[in-house]
Parts: sequence; structure tokens; C-alpha cells
Amino acid sequence: MALAETRIILGCMRIANLDIAAVRELIDASLAAGVNFFDHADIYGGGRCEELFGTVLASQPGLREKIIIQTKCGIRRGFYDFSKEHILRSVDQSLQRLRTDYVDVLLLHRPDTLMEPDEVAEAFTALEESGKVRCFGVSNHSPLQIELLQRWLPQRIRFNQLQFSAAHTGMIDAGLNVNMKIDPAVDRDGGILEYCRLREITIQAWSPLQFGFFDGVFLGHPDYADLNRVLERIGEEQGVSAAAVAVAWILRHPAKMQVVVGTTKPNHLQEICAAERVNLTREQWYEIYRAAGNKLP
Ligand SMILES: NC(=O)c1ccc[n+]([C@@H]2O[C@H](COP(=O)([O-])OP(=O)(O)OC[C@H]3O[C@@H](n4cnc5c(N)ncnc54)[C@H](OP(=O)(O)O)[C@@H]3O)[C@@H](O)[C@H]2O)c1
Repeated sequence: MALAETRIILGCMRIANLDIAAVRELIDASLAAGVNFFDHADIYGGGRCEELFGTVLASQPGLREKIIIQTKCGIRRGFYDFSKEHILRSVDQSLQRLRTDYVDVLLLHRPDTLMEPDEVAEAFTALEESGKVRCFGVSNHSPLQIELLQRWLPQRIRFNQLQFSAAHTGMIDAGLNVNMKIDPAVDRDGGILEYCRLREITIQAWSPLQFGFFDGVFLGHPDYADLNRVLERIGEEQGVSAAAVAVAWILRHPAKMQVVVGTTKPNHLQEICAAERVNLTREQWYEIYRAAGNKLP
């Protein structure tokens, strides 16, 4: 990648209802806060999110070269589709909406069990050779699914976007409870965290402030009173918000994850970016993990 990637990525899934001025303000605020990486998907807002972003891009000459744009494909209405035809068509449509002739990163959004890896390889190679996509990754994929793809792909899979937050810790629970006869010991992802570290695949943590599957934000939520108390206390000690501590908790992990934040408010984004200057000790890191309701064996 020509530009150095920032560790905080602005997720654009929730911008569909903003007006152009607000999207422009959010992009400006990202750059001002040192965030140059933007995450999209063909399906966000039914294409509206890419379209709004593209309108701002087209109105600001020079902006394209300063930023990294990532988009995703593969989810369709009621099914998943990693066919060559769909991947190529989806990228062309994203480029049109984004009003650019390349994306820096393309991710396969969710595993398609009907995937033919050689077909994906043909699609990726065509996209790479035409200059439409500069590098590739996946999202919500297990180690073996990545191995299967990688067996055919000439391109290296560089990213895996996965749900991870203080209140969604599946990726580390099993590793902390090896061989225990309890639910957190269940390995639901095939050891994806360790696998990505071994293969130098950057994990992009999505929904860093949410619990459940889009059930809500844990900040200020009564079910997460202990977690909020700890985040707020550490935040006060370090002069940052609870949201920044929650993001710092992800950044602190030695897997060197990126964090895809989904705020639509410039002030929230600015607050969150203070996460990069938070120092969490090992003790504080585990304290946050336990305060979210997790037990250590
Ligand atoms: N690969 C996948 O399958 C997948 C799935 C889901 C999401 N994603 C990506 O991940 C990105 C982030 O997901 P997400 O939006 O669920 O993440 P998130 O950052 O956990 O949640 C963002 C939401 O939290 C709210 N929020 C409340 N208080 C906040 C505070 N103090 N600071 C910041 N935000 C606060 C935001 O509202 P305000 O706007 O009012 O700040 C916004 O509605 C998406 O945009 C998308 O790019 C990927």
C-alpha cells in the first residue's frame, strides 16, 4: 500500500442518512484526527454510503491520494456470492459509486460455502491487473477458509475483519480457557487470532463499542455497569473518554489489530482517536476483560 495505514479506520456503514455536508465534515474530521483509512461495503445503505462518500471525493481534488479506501463484496439479498461474475460486477459498481478508478483494499465480506477458490483467484487477478484493486483481504473468515482460498490465490490475504470488543471477546476466550469444560472454552473460530498473528494477517476489529450482534452500544448500558465503571475510571486517570479506553483496549493487544469505528459524529471520532495515547498496563487490560463479565480460570 502506498500510504501508511492508520490503526483507526472510519467505518462508513452508518453514514447513509447523513447529508453531504455532514459526510464532508466527518471525512475532514478523520483526516484532522490522523485517520486516513475508510471502510465501505457494496451493501452499506444499499450503496448509498459509497455514493455519498464518492460525492465528497469528487468535490475535493487531491483527497483521493491522501486516503485508503476499502470496500467489500459477496453478500447479496439472502445469499452469499463469491462467483467471479459477481465479484467483478460488484467492484465496478462500487468504483462508480465511489467515483474513483481504484480501491486500495477489497474484502470478501462473509464466507460463501459455495465458493470455488479458483474462480475467486481469477477475479482477484483480473482486478489486480486492471489496477482496480491494490490489495485483498477477507472478513469473518476462519483459518481454514483462509488457507483454502490462499491455496489458489496468487495474491496474499492481508486483512481479516472480525467482530471484537470488550463485550465481544470470543477470539480470546477459548485461548484463555483451553481444555476447560465451560462455554468460554468453546473454540468458535478455529483459533483465528493466533492464526492471523502467525500469518501476519491484520485483524480489523469491527463494532468496537457494541455487544451482541448489533444489540447496542455497551457504553452507558445498565447490563455493563462494571465495565463502564472501569472504563470511566481509567479514562479519568488518563484524561480521555470511556470510548477511547474501549478502543485502546483493542489497540493494546499484541496482535496489532486495527479498529473499525462506526461513529457518524466528528466529536466522537476525535474523542476515540485519543485511544492511541492511552497506556494500558497488563493488569488494567485484564481488569477490563473481567469487568465485561468474563472469568479467568
Ligand atoms: N465486516 C463486517 O461483517 C462488519 C459488520 C459490521 C460493521 N462493520 C464495519 O465496522 C464499522 C463499525 O461498526 P459499528 O458502527 O457497529 O461500530 P461501533 O463503533 O461499535 O458503533 C458505532 C455506533 O456507536 C454509537 N456511539 C454511541 N456512543 C458513542 C461514543 N461515545 N463514541 C462513538 N460512538 C458512539 C455511534 O453513534 P454516533 O454516530 O452518534 O457517534 C454509532 O451508532 C462499520 O461502519 C463497518 O464499516 C463490518
